[in-house]
Amino acid sequence: MPAQAGIHDQAPRSTLGRRLGGDRAAGGLPSPPMPASDDTLPLDGQRILALAARSMFDLFANASEGMLLVDRDGRVVWINDQYKRFLPALGFERVEDFVGKPVAEVVQNTQMDRVIRTGKPILIDLLANRAGTFVVSRIPLRDEAGEVIGALGIVLFDHPETTLQPLISKFANLQRELDEARRELATQRRTKYTLASFIGSSPAATEVKRQARRAALSSSPVLLLGETGTGKELLAHAIHAGSARARGPLVSVNIAAVPDTLLEAEFFGVAPGAYTGADRKGRDGKFKLADGGTLFLDEIGDMPLSLQPKLLRALQEGEIEPLGSNRLVPFDARVIAATSRDLAQLVREGRFREDLYYRLNVLPIRVPPLRERQADIPALVEALGEDIGLRNGTLPPEVSPQALALLQAQAWRGNIRELRNVLEQAAMRSDSRRIEAAPVQEVLCAAGIEPAAPVQLAPDAGQGAQAHGGPLLRPLAEQVAQLERAAIAAALAASGGNKVAAARLLGISRATLYERLSDIQASV
Ligand SMILES: Nc1ncnc2c1ncn2[C@@H]1O[C@H](COP(=O)(O)OP(=O)(O)O)[C@@H](O)[C@H]1O
Ligand SMILES: [Mg+2]
Repeated sequence: MPAQAGIHDQAPRSTLGRRLGGDRAAGGLPSPPMPASDDTLPLDGQRILALAARSMFDLFANASEGMLLVDRDGRVVWINDQYKRFLPALGFERVEDFVGKPVAEVVQNTQMDRVIRTGKPILIDLLANRAGTFVVSRIPLRDEAGEVIGALGIVLFDHPETTLQPLISKFANLQRELDEARRELATQRRTKYTLASFIGSSPAATEVKRQARRAALSSSPVLLLGETGTGKELLAHAIHAGSARARGPLVSVNIAAVPDTLLEAEFFGVAPGAYTGADRKGRDGKFKLADGGTLFLDEIGDMPLSLQPKLLRALQEGEIEPLGSNRLVPFDARVIAATSRDLAQLVREGRFREDLYYRLNVLPIRVPPLRERQADIPALVEALGEDIGLRNGTLPPEVSPQALALLQAQAWRGNIRELRNVLEQAAMRSDSRRIEAAPVQEVLCAAGIEPAAPVQLAPDAGQGAQAHGGPLLRPLAEQVAQLERAAIAAALAASGGNKVAAARLLGISRATLYERLSDIQASV
């Protein structure tokens, strides 16, 4: 139906005039927005202007998808025929229920009241509401004295995705890029490791993996206890990856690495306006970033005492209070904490709150040091070697049996991290792909790493021999015996003193092990 006919059918000048002026008696609109068309007037400038205004109005009425008129109080006073088809989606069946209402109540997200308030048009805007997305134009209407008496809203297009194709596709491209960046970020936050990345089949390693698997099935807090480099962070990733939250983010905070003064904001976020300057807009804390996923609190033993009550409350209530806000915000993150310190001792010393300790210590997992699972060293050496090769773009190094035996005999206070360093440096010192015992020994000496089983040196092979070229320049039989003792001690340590298991680790029979043990005792 042509819009012009629609307008005139629906709101002939007289009706519209009565509506605008009459209904709103006191502050009403004195004249309709549509100029008069009196053929008897002389063709002066005013008439041309009036005609132009009328043509414009008709043009918009004709070409647009709908028009709506509000009075100076922001009430809808008139809509044209085309506009009516939006009413059901806006929640109205009858025109009478819509007209007469404050526009802000019946059209969500409208800006008409702003146009009336400011007197400034909004020539092009996107309006999205229950009825759809529209390109709209809003124009204030003024009386002869220039007073704003109402506003005209024009729906220029609906379905802007078809009419504004180039603009929309540009927008869609930007949106796609944004999504991609977000996905990328999510991937980075996603786990690097699964339980399969935790190398080791020694009884101790198997037990850790069993506990980690069980922890993954639960949603209680996990506490990973172990020396540095034992794989606590790796396990945290693996537990997250094996949990129902695997699709959510894994967010880590290394408490030891963040200055105390910044920790609160780092954990709980900052409310908008809490600070002037850079953080004016507010910032999400790690708890919020981990929403739907897992929060890994590394080095929890370093948590300043002053912040512990707030962390405890967050864990107990599942709510956080961003800095500078007095609102509690719920979060949904599973907490895995780790520490290389003796938490129970810290509690005794009053440096760690006991209530927080119990709150975290729901599923404790003790991650054993490498010296308690020397049987895992060959497999670890192989895996670490592969990784080193991969990073350097070379083939993985080949480690000689002697070098391996030497590695197995060390105390490894830095655990796997330290083992990896030694391997990497020994590989650099080796001319070929093969790593022999000598460069390993050199690196160990340079790093001051002591052997695990205190190896007894023969009296004549003491300082003097070492001063010239190291402990390798000694009779071979003696070195082999020494290595053998170290390997046996290591196997016994790894098996917790169980001789059957130790013999199996060494690949020798139980009888042979007893034989060697009695030899060792005899020689001491
Ligand atoms: N069982 C394991 N198998 C393979 N790599 C390991 C294992 N444990 C630790 N690592 C590696 O050793 C390094 C230190 O481990 P990490 O998890 O950071 O230890 P922690 O958090 O206990 O200090 C990391 O590169 C990690 O991938
Ligand atoms: Mg760590």
